[in-house]
Amino acid sequence: LRLGVMASGSGSNFEAIVAAIAAQRLHAQVRVMICNNPKARVFERADRWHIPAVLHNHRQVPSREALDTQIVQTLHDHQVECVIMAGWMRIVTPVLIHAFPNAILNIHPSLLPSFKGIHAVEQALAAGVKIAGCTVHRVVPAVDSGEILAQAAVPVMPEDTPETLQARIHLQEHRIYPQAIASIIPEFRPTPSA
Ligand code: GRF
Repeated sequence: LRLGVMASGSGSNFEAIVAAIAAQRLHAQVRVMICNNPKARVFERADRWHIPAVLHNHRQVPSREALDTQIVQTLHDHQVECVIMAGWMRIVTPVLIHAFPNAILNIHPSLLPSFKGIHAVEQALAAGVKIAGCTVHRVVPAVDSGEILAQAAVPVMPEDTPETLQARIHLQEHRIYPQAIASIIPEFRPTPSA
């Protein structure tokens, strides 16, 4: 499966996916990594794994739609079939969503539908939940909605800070994201019926 990964920050999920491919736990290729933030650490990770990296700086385009138009072009240029949002911190528009019907995944650091949005880990702590986690879901126009493909739960410890809880969640993200991608490969490679 030909993947394009979109990331904005550290890129640890990007690297977990690339590592799962290298270990042959995921039968796919990352054709391109797209990032909107020129300073993001994900560029170093892409370099290290020799994955083509493309900057689409949102500060240099006039609208979300214009940004997504550029991104769709880059994804098509690299013959991407399935788009993986891995810590992509921009809201995407129908321009992107309709270009890859049913073929865009996102990971979110909560057990959706709880705690949508960018402060999910802080909100889980503030709510006093004893179980937190992460979710891989299909991307639809509403933020952090769409069909759930995989989830993992982690305990919340009394002494947790947002950082310690986030770290525990991250470990599970790195495990379930490659698995969730693997689970949709048959949608792209239907086995011929007899
Ligand atoms: C993850 O916690 C993910 O759930 C959220 O953004 C974070 C990305 O982390 N959407 P990384 O850049 O993959 O390390």
